[in-house]
Amino acid sequence: MNVSQPYLPHPDGWEYGVQSQVHTPSSYCVKGSIWQLAKAYVSVNDTGYHQLISHWLNTHAVIEPFVIATNRHLSVMHPMHKLLSPHFKDTININALARQHLINADGIIESTFSFEKYALELSSDVYKYWKLTEQGLPQDLLKRGLAVEDPSSPNQLRLLIKDYPYAVDGLAVWSAIKSWVDEYCSIYYPDDRTVKSDTELQAWWKEIRDVGHGDVKDETWWPAMQTYKELAETCTTVIWIASALHAAVNFGQYPYGGYHPNRPTMSRRPMPKPGTNEYEELKQDPDKVLLKTITPPIESILVAAVLEILSKHSSDEVYLGQRDCAKWTSDKRALEAFNRFNQKLIGIEKRIKEMNADPRLKNRTGPANMPYKLLYPNTSDTSRKGTGIVGMGIPNSVSI
Ligand SMILES: [Fe+2]
Repeated sequence: MNVSQPYLPHPDGWEYGVQSQVHTPSSYCVKGSIWQLAKAYVSVNDTGYHQLISHWLNTHAVIEPFVIATNRHLSVMHPMHKLLSPHFKDTININALARQHLINADGIIESTFSFEKYALELSSDVYKYWKLTEQGLPQDLLKRGLAVEDPSSPNQLRLLIKDYPYAVDGLAVWSAIKSWVDEYCSIYYPDDRTVKSDTELQAWWKEIRDVGHGDVKDETWWPAMQTYKELAETCTTVIWIASALHAAVNFGQYPYGGYHPNRPTMSRRPMPKPGTNEYEELKQDPDKVLLKTITPPIESILVAAVLEILSKHSSDEVYLGQRDCAKWTSDKRALEAFNRFNQKLIGIEKRIKEMNADPRLKNRTGPANMPYKLLYPNTSDTSRKGTGIVGMGIPNSVSI
């Protein structure tokens, strides 16, 4: 971060937009303290966006209609039910708890984040621009300008920052999910006609689009679900969201934000201006000013406690590439394809360990020397050793 821009409403009204201040890095005297505060203001907004958009909206909320429609329209014998159901374990349960305690009016989010009563309004507003088809990792990286299309590269794209751990590990996991889903779907849907004529599948899709995601049902980006390609791409994206995307945004919350000043959720005072008492106080005792500015102690403790709960892997976790029942299908072709998926993920674990030990890949550990493991699948952990806060492991579903 080399430029920080806290925004304030224009004093003459919203119609005049915002007033922004630009701050640049400094380590000295009051300018160094101003820079620390500026980073805290940006972090407050980033933490709120992360919790309400990246975490709640883009994983927990958008996946819910898929869970409901799968249970309502696909029989447990349906091949797509067998494929998707492990990725929906406990999602409705955790979303219900979130609605009761976290995102409800006057709940924990509204009481501990600067967005206060506008928190869910922000999430709802951003949902208007949600596109399932942009949630697959390759499309997400292209949209965010972090990759360019390149037909000669794996996944048909080239990263513009080579040492970008989320993208490097994520693309490996995305590719493994895609191969598995392609193989599995091709067993039961050899051509487009079989997709079109599957009445259960078509009813499933209609409910997801028209009822579950009814507020955006008329958007033109929705796949028509008339081809094998549309089915395989949709299922790949749904599995990616429920497993790897959620793991990447969820399980690092305590490791990164458990020390509250690193990821404050609230700012209570504007940036001190030269000539004011606040500015003089900043010169005398910058730590005191920082603590008076960010989240108060009680709210900080509450946030840290919630992040601790959210970041824990349970003792009955089922990781990507695992099933809770070995005989989940009697179809040998599906079992063999699933075994290839399992082995591919274990290979990714090995590669992540090697990269994290490579001193040339500086972004993988950063200045705090904390290796990036959020997309380490942990598929090889069949004895559930990786419980608690371990900052790694991709569970099959959104369950915390
Ligand atoms: Fe979560």
